[in-house]
Amino acid sequence: MVFNHPEMSKPFLEQLNWRHAEKNFDAEKTLEDAQLNAILEATRMSPSSFGIQPYHVYVVSDASVKTKLRAAAYDQAQFTDASCLLVFASRTDHMKRVDQYFEYASDGDAETREKLKGYEDMMRGFIQNMPQEAWKPWADRQTYIALGFALAAAAELEVQSCPMEGFDTKQFDEILGLPEHMKSVVVLSLGYSDGSPARSKVRFPEDDLFTHV
Ligand SMILES: Cc1cc2nc3c(=O)[nH]c(=O)nc-3n(C[C@H](O)[C@H](O)[C@H](O)COP(=O)(O)O)c2cc1C
Repeated sequence: MVFNHPEMSKPFLEQLNWRHAEKNFDAEKTLEDAQLNAILEATRMSPSSFGIQPYHVYVVSDASVKTKLRAAAYDQAQFTDASCLLVFASRTDHMKRVDQYFEYASDGDAETREKLKGYEDMMRGFIQNMPQEAWKPWADRQTYIALGFALAAAAELEVQSCPMEGFDTKQFDEILGLPEHMKSVVVLSLGYSDGSPARSKVRFPEDDLFTHV
């Protein structure tokens, strides 16, 4: 998909004050397919370590599934009132992922794949040398970058969103039927505000956050 929606989007930097963690979605308003697809495409285009994108995103629009998820998320209204939920799950099937990566990179061509062998071996070596208990935290970090890209795309498209970690990940995994190698980590709800005023922004000052050397 190529991004070409000048009439639909505003420059991201101009949108940083507009965007906020929306708590009050209008449950009657549905996200347009073009907007959802653009947000998913931004997610797909996000960078990751070695490019293996160790995550999968469940796009939940079904009302009955959203109701079950809300019950496992401290009854937060965003889980049902948002038009859809992106449930980001981290993967831990890294070796299989590497295999898939080189299948795509070589377009299934054995000769091209052979030329990439040095890079593939290096990637496999890096993962093998990582302690097993570090595999999921490593995947989680890539997942959060993808979340950031989705958040930024939503802001640019003037779609309200709320990133959320306040849920029981085990229950989410069960409700969505996640396979063993995927674990839910964070959710982005997407939709439109019901018009309630947003809380004012609190941000730490520049000298707290940045050191110029
Ligand atoms: C990783 C993460 C998890 C969050 N979890 C929740 C949550 O479970 N429920 C919620 O209402 N807001 C949640 N938030 C929203 C934050 O409270 C909000 O982004 C922060 O207070 C800054 O406000 P702003 O986004 O409106 O500028 C989360 C934000 C992030 C980035």
